[in-house]
Amino acid sequence: MASLLTAFGRIAHAGVREYARRTAASCPASGLIGRSFVTRAQPLRSDNRVTVHFINRDGEKITVEGSPGDSLLDVVINEDLDFDGFGACEGTLACSTCHLIFDEDVYKKLGPVTDEEMDMLDLAYGLTDTSRLGCQICLSRSLEGMVARVPESVADIRQSQDGSSQ
Ligand code: FES
Repeated sequence: MASLLTAFGRIAHAGVREYARRTAASCPASGLIGRSFVTRAQPLRSDNRVTVHFINRDGEKITVEGSPGDSLLDVVINEDLDFDGFGACEGTLACSTCHLIFDEDVYKKLGPVTDEEMDMLDLAYGLTDTSRLGCQICLSRSLEGMVARVPESVADIRQSQDGSSQ
């Protein structure tokens, strides 16, 4: 019986490690998410999807799904959402075009903001107290049903830098 339990423990641990490895591979904020999932040891399910409601610039609500570990930028790309200019730097923290605004209760679940993200957020149009960069937000089950608002305009800092250097 003891060896059976040990074998089960090894299998369960390997499953959690594999899950953490997969989330680390797809999410820029992987250190945070990886630790979060490992400590909570959530079960692995093939139907484990997270619903996200985007509110587009024109007020349209667009409901899509992503996988835990996907960034919101991944979701926008995978679902082929047409948010003009969104994610111009492809998640390299160089543009701030992935600026999104959240309700306060969701914002509190998003985890800490890095200095690099804060530097980019400072350059975003329409910054609010609950703004974050979508490329730095990774889905987890606790974010099921979250609402993410796309601001009315975007600032691509790379274009302003190009303009000032000419
Ligand atoms: S996609 Fe450029 S900062 Fe997020």
